[in-house]
Amino acid sequence: MNKTCNCGILGLGSCFPKKVLTNHDLEKMVDTSNEWITKRTGISERRILDEDVPAHKLGVEAAKKALADAKVEPEEVDLIIVTTETPDYLTPSMSCLIQSEIGATKAAAFDLNAACSGFIYGMSVANQFIRSGFYKYVLIVGCEGLSKVVDWKDRNTCVLFGDGAGAVLFGPVEEGCGIITTYTGAAGELGKNITIPCCYISPEDIEARGGENKRTLWMDGSEVFKFAVKIMEHASTKVLDDAGLTMDDIKLIVPHQANIRILEGAAKRLNIPNDKVFSNLHRYGNISSASIPVGLTDAYSQKIISKGDNLILVGFGGGLTWGAAIIRWNK
Ligand code: UT7
Repeated sequence: MNKTCNCGILGLGSCFPKKVLTNHDLEKMVDTSNEWITKRTGISERRILDEDVPAHKLGVEAAKKALADAKVEPEEVDLIIVTTETPDYLTPSMSCLIQSEIGATKAAAFDLNAACSGFIYGMSVANQFIRSGFYKYVLIVGCEGLSKVVDWKDRNTCVLFGDGAGAVLFGPVEEGCGIITTYTGAAGELGKNITIPCCYISPEDIEARGGENKRTLWMDGSEVFKFAVKIMEHASTKVLDDAGLTMDDIKLIVPHQANIRILEGAAKRLNIPNDKVFSNLHRYGNISSASIPVGLTDAYSQKIISKGDNLILVGFGGGLTWGAAIIRWNK
C-alpha cells in the first residue's frame, strides 16, 4: 500500500461514431419537427453507431486518448470502471472488453450501472481507491450505445438520445487539487419512470410499450424532468455545503446533458447565469453516463477551465439516481 494522496484528473479523451442523425433526418422517421426538438430539448443532432458496431469500440478509442493525454501506459492502469446502461454483453463486461483491447494487462475491471449518474458514482469509487493509496491509476470510461435500445418509432424518446464515450484517467495529484467531495443518492421507488428491460420484462413494461414485448427504453419524460431540475439544485447545494464553498467559488458546472430546459431551470434555482452551466447538448443529445466525461473533455479542450478552477459535476437519471462532485482542476 502506498501513502495516502489526493485524487485528480490526469488525462481525458472522447470518441463518437461518424454517423450524424439530425433533427431533419428524424422528421422523416417519426411525427416530429426540427422546431419542436430544438425548442423543447436544445438538441440539433446526435451521433449514431452502425448496427454492426458494438458500443465498446467507442470506449476503446476514448480510453486510448485519455491514457495518451496523461502519458500513462495501459499496463500501468490498476482498475478500469466502465459506466454504462447499454453494455454490449452482460458478460463479458464492457470493462473487460476494453481492458483487453487497450492492453491494460494488470488492471482489474468491472462495469457500474447507475444510468446517467454513473460517472459520478465511478468517481466516488476511484477517489476511495486512490486516496487510500491502494491503487495509483483508475480509468473511468463512460460508454453508451443508446441507439441500440431506443425505440425508433417512439417520438417521445428517440429524438433525445445518442451514442458516445468519454474517458478520464484518475491518479494521485498535488495537495489542494483534485476531487474535493462527492455525493451520491438513489430513489428506487421512482425507478419505474425510466426503464430498459433486459433479462426480465413485466406486464406493466409490455403495456407501456404498446403491448409489445420489446426491450426498448421507455420514459415518463415530464416526471423525470421535474425530478431532474430539483435534484440538480439539491445535489449541487449539498456538495457546496460539504466542501465549505459557495457558488462564487465555482468556475463552471459540468452537468449531465439531458435537456437544455433542465439546465436552465436548475441555473435559475441556483441563482446563476446560464453560461456558468456547460452545455454541448446540441451536438450529441443525451449520451447518459458518457455526457459528463465528454463535457469535461470538451470544456478542457475549449480552454474554458484552467488549473485551480473549482468545478461542480452533477448527474441524474435512471434508477432514479443522482450524484455530484466538486473538483479543483489540476491540469
Ligand atoms: O437522462 C435521463 C434523464 N432524462 C431526462 O432528464 C429527460 C427529461 N424529460 C424531458 O427532457 C422532457 O420531458 C421531454 C423532452 C422528454 C418532453 O418534453 P415535455 O415538454 O415534457 O413534453 P411532454 O412530454 O409534456 O409532451 C408535450 C407534447 C405532447 O403532445 P400533447 O399530448 O400535448 O398533444 C407530446 O406528445 O409534445 C408531444 N411530443 C412531441 N411532439 C413532437 C413529445 N415528443 C415529441 C416530438 N415531436 N419528438
